[in-house]
Amino acid sequence: MTRNREVEQHQPAHHAIIAGSGSFTPKKILTNDDLAKMVDTSDEWITTRTGIKTRHITSENETTAYLASEAAKAALANAKLNHKDIDLIIVATITPEMVFPSTACFVQVALGATNAFAFDIAAACSGFIYGISIAQQYIESGRYNNAIVIGAETLTKITNFKDRTSCILFGDGAGAVVLQRSDDKNRGVLYSSLYSDGTYWKSLNCQAYGSRHPSSKKLDDPNKVYMEIKGREVYQFAVRRVVEIVNECLKKCKLTLDDVSMIISHQMNARIIESVAKRLELPEGKMFVNINEYGNTSSASIPIAFNECLKHGKVKKGDLVIFAAFGAGLTWGATVIRL
Ligand code: UT7
Repeated sequence: MTRNREVEQHQPAHHAIIAGSGSFTPKKILTNDDLAKMVDTSDEWITTRTGIKTRHITSENETTAYLASEAAKAALANAKLNHKDIDLIIVATITPEMVFPSTACFVQVALGATNAFAFDIAAACSGFIYGISIAQQYIESGRYNNAIVIGAETLTKITNFKDRTSCILFGDGAGAVVLQRSDDKNRGVLYSSLYSDGTYWKSLNCQAYGSRHPSSKKLDDPNKVYMEIKGREVYQFAVRRVVEIVNECLKKCKLTLDDVSMIISHQMNARIIESVAKRLELPEGKMFVNINEYGNTSSASIPIAFNECLKHGKVKKGDLVIFAAFGAGLTWGATVIRL
């Protein structure tokens, strides 16, 4: 997609570096064989079409704010920060704790982050990247020092476990990073780019209970309480857009793939991720994939994957990483970060 508003690279006075990372996933596991007992599918079909083997799923009393808070606590500990140091909490989610107040306000209480202001954003699978970009602006301006950006989802609570085209894809979890103000010009978020195209809203949606289908009225179709996806439609679009946006990042930052240590893509389908890597001609080992264990956790998938990369030494301080996502809206985005 060509943008008619050209984004100029600027040199901010301050830089937003990743000072800490954490994630949390529920203990309960749902396997492909479990799903084959619920719908007409098989481990073989799911594995070959998606790369997914298992997903972590919440129990009834595990909510989005709980997952988000646990991930945020881990990120805070990793950053060696006190909860009072946090100025801003952003939760990216499409499965919030409730319609209002925001999930981020529940997280604020759980952390005891009394100095922080907190809000949610809804950009589906791109939500974490949108959140990073928003926090980046607050930090680069010099207004705030520490922000927690969290991607948290309990997608299995809006999954129709009678619909084999969607129920095999999704899992629950949360991941978080602490973004911190730094004067080190060589580190931090170097570039972020975000896109939306609402004309494709029907490709991925969950229609109840917003103002179009309010809880005060009987639904014309009871399935509107669940996620609806047009998988095939989204597939091609996702590959094209993610390739485009990674190339845009490289061009704007005057980098090549040799400079990049790891691309951490939203985990939507292993075949989509492999297609992106192939089209980019990305050297082996530079595209991280963990969808086999977690399924698609929407906004949580990039921070969960990033935390795993750090934990297993796949990326380290000084490395250059690109996060790239695509999801409902439609929305897509990417960010380039020097760790
Ligand atoms: O994060 C963003 C949200 N994620 C997405 O939107 C997902 C993107 N799309 C995808 O990952 C893939 O399109 C899917 C995994 C959803 C589907 O894979 P596909 O290769 O695009 O399959 P398809 O939809 O073209 O369906 C192929 C066949 C169909 O049967 P017919 O018409 O060929 O007889 C489906 O009915 O596979 C059938 N099918 C299944 N069979 C066994 C669909 N779901 C299943 C299933 N098990 N779970």
